[in-house]
Amino acid sequence: MSELLNLPASALDAYRGAVLSIGRQHPLVEEELEGQLQPLHYPASRHDRAEFLVEHGETIKIAVATAGSGVDAMMLDRLPHLEAVMNFGVGYDAHDVEGLRERNIPLSNTPDVLNECVADTALGLYLDTMRRFSAADRFVRSGKWQEGPFPFSTRAHHRRVGILGLGRIGFDIARRFEALSSEIHYWSRRAKDTPGYTYHSTPRELAEAVDILVVAIVGGPDTAGLVGAEVLQALGDNGVVINIARGSVIDDEALIVALQNRTITAAGLDVFVDEPNVDDRYLELNNTVLYPHVGSATHETREDMARLTLENVRSWVTSRTLVTPV
Ligand code: 8YV
Repeated sequence: MSELLNLPASALDAYRGAVLSIGRQHPLVEEELEGQLQPLHYPASRHDRAEFLVEHGETIKIAVATAGSGVDAMMLDRLPHLEAVMNFGVGYDAHDVEGLRERNIPLSNTPDVLNECVADTALGLYLDTMRRFSAADRFVRSGKWQEGPFPFSTRAHHRRVGILGLGRIGFDIARRFEALSSEIHYWSRRAKDTPGYTYHSTPRELAEAVDILVVAIVGGPDTAGLVGAEVLQALGDNGVVINIARGSVIDDEALIVALQNRTITAAGLDVFVDEPNVDDRYLELNNTVLYPHVGSATHETREDMARLTLENVRSWVTSRTLVTPV
């Protein structure tokens, strides 16, 4: 019970009841926070939020956020004593990052511990999209095999693969595609020291050079709609899009039209703009594989993310520093 945080009395005095918990926390985070800091829980229903902030906004000093929820501009206005924010997850686009910066409120995330699981998900989603594992599973279960064989799928190795955003997760994805004897191309804000990988100076040029486009770039306003009609057209009719980053990076209208008209072949998506809502048109297409944002969701990795989140909480309330600041 509450052994991870293990806070000294001074920290308990200063922060008990002054923590805002946003979203559904990992059980370990939940247990540790409850045991030591008795956090306030941000209402799940939008209707109750303004009143909650009027009542409690003044008391909150730190916020711990998870699962696509963050400290937005409306909240920030009503949290005058907010000191720091801990984000469970590497992507922090749900927060008003600019607003936090203006007020010098530091933010931590959970980098690195999830890279390999997210990369595994990209690979799995890709193989499923090309070799149609989940569709074939449905085929066997439905008894359709009695009527004839499953249709041919598409070869997944020896392809030209483009990684959009060669950060730490992107690198781990690229390494997995190397094992599939693929050519690796990438676009990032800067060219990297990656012998054997080919850098392209725009997303469009990257798309032109490859068949498989794997989106691994940070979400947020700077990358919103980066994969749009122009990039999809450049990818061409053998094109496959895999997205394990954020739904916002893809222009849904453009992707759905491209999939409907088969101006690209298929898409494998782990992330969506308005999760858990998914545009019905994706569900109707048979050239999509849809995952419920589970990139990092293994027991082991989620526990590592929980521990890192708690280390950041502990570090802030005991020494006003963050272990993994953004
Ligand atoms: C999680 C993620 O789904 O780390 C991220 O940015 O998207 C995922 O690992 C998310 O953090 C859950 O809170």
